[in-house]
Amino acid sequence: MSRLHRLSLAAIVGLALIGPGQAAEEEHLRLTRPGELPPAKAQSIYQSVEKTMADGYAPSRDAIAKNYPSWRRFNIAPYLSDTHGNRYVNNYANATATKAGYGKLKAGQKMPPGAVVVKDSYTVTNKGEVFPGALFYMQKLAPGRSPATGDWRFVQILPDGSYIGDTVGDSPEDVGFCFTCHKAMAEVDYLFFLPDEYRKK
Ligand code: HEC
Repeated sequence: MSRLHRLSLAAIVGLALIGPGQAAEEEHLRLTRPGELPPAKAQSIYQSVEKTMADGYAPSRDAIAKNYPSWRRFNIAPYLSDTHGNRYVNNYANATATKAGYGKLKAGQKMPPGAVVVKDSYTVTNKGEVFPGALFYMQKLAPGRSPATGDWRFVQILPDGSYIGDTVGDSPEDVGFCFTCHKAMAEVDYLFFLPDEYRKK
């Protein structure tokens, strides 16, 4: 049975909105039955936390973190990514990456410098609390700028806008694990894209 089919069979989870002041600002959503969310539910939750997420990333003063919501999104709904901390994630690509065929690379093809792919996220705890999640991105640098990571820069920003690390900036050791996993996709320029059933057709 496909993952999507399995998801569509899942019971509809209740979504309760807790008014401002009744809970910590970022904990403004609570699901009565957490578990794997059906795509429509994952999407509606995303719409309700998007603004909080953007406000949270803002103090990073990172242009990518600020601008990515206006870029093309490649997934139909947020999907659970166990490789990114069991968060519900999205895939966005800037115009350079989109034009260069993000998601359609053939073996040996590479993204041009300036291509950026972003994964934002939110978390649902097993108690059903919804929190903004970390922001992950990969930015293609000039040839030779970072040979050890395929000339990709890997960055992780926390939901409060602080940086976990930047492979060509501060605390590169804290984001070294990104490439350790992404290098499995060397054939298509270290990009995994996203699960079939969540791809926009
Ligand atoms: C254990 C493996 C693993 C690790 C570690 C990992 N990723 Fe990923 N990454 C994936 C997979 C698999 C996908 C695609 C599907 C998904 O998200 O589950 C992906 C997708 C992405 C994408 C979308 C671009 C693409 O098509 O590949 C970005 C951006 C990204 N990861 C950034 C990061 C950053 C930044 C880190 C480190 C902080 C990181 N990843 C760590 C496995 C990993």
